[in-house]
Amino acid sequence: MSKILVTGGAGYIGSHTCVELIEAGYNILVIDNFSNSCPEALKRVEQITGKSIAFEQIDIRDANSLEELFSRHQFEAVIHFAGLKAVGESCQIPLEYYQNNVSGTLNLCQTMKAHGCHNLVFSSSATVYGEPASLPITEDFPLSATNPYGRSKLIIEDMMRDLHKSDNNWNILLLRYFNPAGAHPSGLIGEDPNGIPNNLMPYISQVAIGKLEKLQVFGDDYDTVDGTGVRDYIHVVDLAKGHVKALDKLNQKPGCTAYNLGVGSGYSVLQMAAAFAKISGREIPHEIVERRPGDIANCYADPSLAMQALGWQAELGLEAMVEDGWNWQKKNMDGYHTN
Ligand code: NAD
Ligand code: UFG
Repeated sequence: MSKILVTGGAGYIGSHTCVELIEAGYNILVIDNFSNSCPEALKRVEQITGKSIAFEQIDIRDANSLEELFSRHQFEAVIHFAGLKAVGESCQIPLEYYQNNVSGTLNLCQTMKAHGCHNLVFSSSATVYGEPASLPITEDFPLSATNPYGRSKLIIEDMMRDLHKSDNNWNILLLRYFNPAGAHPSGLIGEDPNGIPNNLMPYISQVAIGKLEKLQVFGDDYDTVDGTGVRDYIHVVDLAKGHVKALDKLNQKPGCTAYNLGVGSGYSVLQMAAAFAKISGREIPHEIVERRPGDIANCYADPSLAMQALGWQAELGLEAMVEDGWNWQKKNMDGYHTN
């Protein structure tokens, strides 16, 4: 059976995608350097699926290891999650971001090319739209970057478009994720941020469980429903299923195409906090503070292209996202390091 390489498969979105791929019958091999994850995540994927996972600890910055891997395995396609993802950190250590994200992806594409593997699904981000002029966002909106993380995604997208132009044997799907949230309904895998979370959902969840005192709401004077920032939160299991659909699409020789993976509507910070309080039965104390530099007021997708072309749409709503996120948090107080 042909094999699918999953880079960064021990991470948040990668681990959920591994579950869906295995359940869809795919034969996968995962590589990861565990810079932002741990082996326990893959053990939990094995527990959920009842299948063992082929895994190699490889850093995508290491071209020789990639070459050696591809010389031992024939991959039909690669799903590429591996990379660094924290916006704030990318402003502090931009070179690490360009090295992991851009050079790592360059190594991967060069190795794929050398071994005749031309099918790639790449984790892009809604961040490539910068500050959108209107809403909802469609894939043909102008692209821009406001920080090194976003720029690394944009550079990679451009690199992919150039690669496909140079050789149309390549089939590359650029999946632009909106805001992933929630966890697997089993409560066995979920988001496990290092230190204090930067993102809203894991932050609220840690306030609910009592690890953090209160939520700081970054600004309440935006032009939105209640003045707080609005985002398109998408259940991580829906997102994971989008990757299975993307693999199906690669068989139709789609060229290099970008798809929005979002729900198509948004919730504000206060709406998210209220939903979490209701479902968890815990209080979520909050205070309004200054706007966070670089944040935009409103961001949500028009996901209709993914619906038409991939036959994919989000099926789970806010309640499932919050319930599953809370279930994961309750069962794993300290993420994968819970005893
Ligand atoms: P994550 O950090 O949980 O997963 C990334 C995985 O890649 C981790 O397991 C990490 O150890 C691994 N990794 C990092 N650098 C590596 C390297 N040089 N070699 C090998 N492995 C490496 O992040 P995630 O939330 O699962 O995100 C997955 C992808 O989706 C990333 O490319 C991210 O930029 C993108 N994305 C994430 C979000 C989000 O909000 N979570 C939004 C849009 C796009
Ligand atoms: N927010 C707070 N308090 C917090 C954290 C966040 O009020 O402690 C607010 C933000 O101001 C924003 C909303 O919650 O209005 C969501 O913020 P996140 O940090 O969770 O998500 P972002 O939309 O800022 O960014 C995320 C990822 C990016 C990715 C983008 C689009 O972090 O990498 O989604 O996919 F590019």
